[in-house]
Amino acid sequence: MNKYDMSADIERVLLSEQDLKDTVARIGKEICKDYKDSPNPLILVSVLKGSVVFMGDLMRAIDIPCFIDFMSVSSYGAGTTSSGVVKIIKDLDTNAIEGADLLIVEDILDSGKTLYYLKQILQARNPASIKICTLLDKPERRTAPITADYVGATIPDAFVVGYGLDYAEKYRNLPYVGILKPSVYADDK
Ligand code: IMP
Ligand code: MG
Repeated sequence: MNKYDMSADIERVLLSEQDLKDTVARIGKEICKDYKDSPNPLILVSVLKGSVVFMGDLMRAIDIPCFIDFMSVSSYGAGTTSSGVVKIIKDLDTNAIEGADLLIVEDILDSGKTLYYLKQILQARNPASIKICTLLDKPERRTAPITADYVGATIPDAFVVGYGLDYAEKYRNLPYVGILKPSVYADDK
């Protein structure tokens, strides 16, 4: 891979570093307020890899005790279209989540298929509660019946990268969220 300035591939910045800081602080406060009186352990479940940057910042914006865990899933189906059936690539390290408050931390809610199935898989293990926290939400694209409990920002139907989000595994390390220039992925479509 050639080394060059990645920002040249960004059409427009949607969330600056400061916007992201403010957003994470706001969500962290909401989470603390909602869970501070719960007697159950709070487990933040980060969905790899897109949510790792958000997770790293969010957990530090939460000042009540919590645990962290990670899952990796892939959506697979016939050809290029996702069936919405989720295959677990890496499961939680925590064996028993029964009686815990689970908070799924995602980078972006798009069609919603991934989280819809992930929520069902986790629900079957009898946690006390399951909620969803997503940094970004693209409601126009939703096909699965799912909504997030905490949303950082609602964004238009554009392909975005940065702050953990990738295109072909690239741009995750950009410190802001930006719309990728369509010319970057035009050849791959
Ligand atoms: P869903 O099952 O369609 O909601 O898929 C959500 C997943 O698709 C996210 O966790 C991302 O990995 C990926 N995704 C959806 N939209 C974007 C985007 O604009 N940029 C980068 N990844 C995206
Ligand atoms: Mg993802």
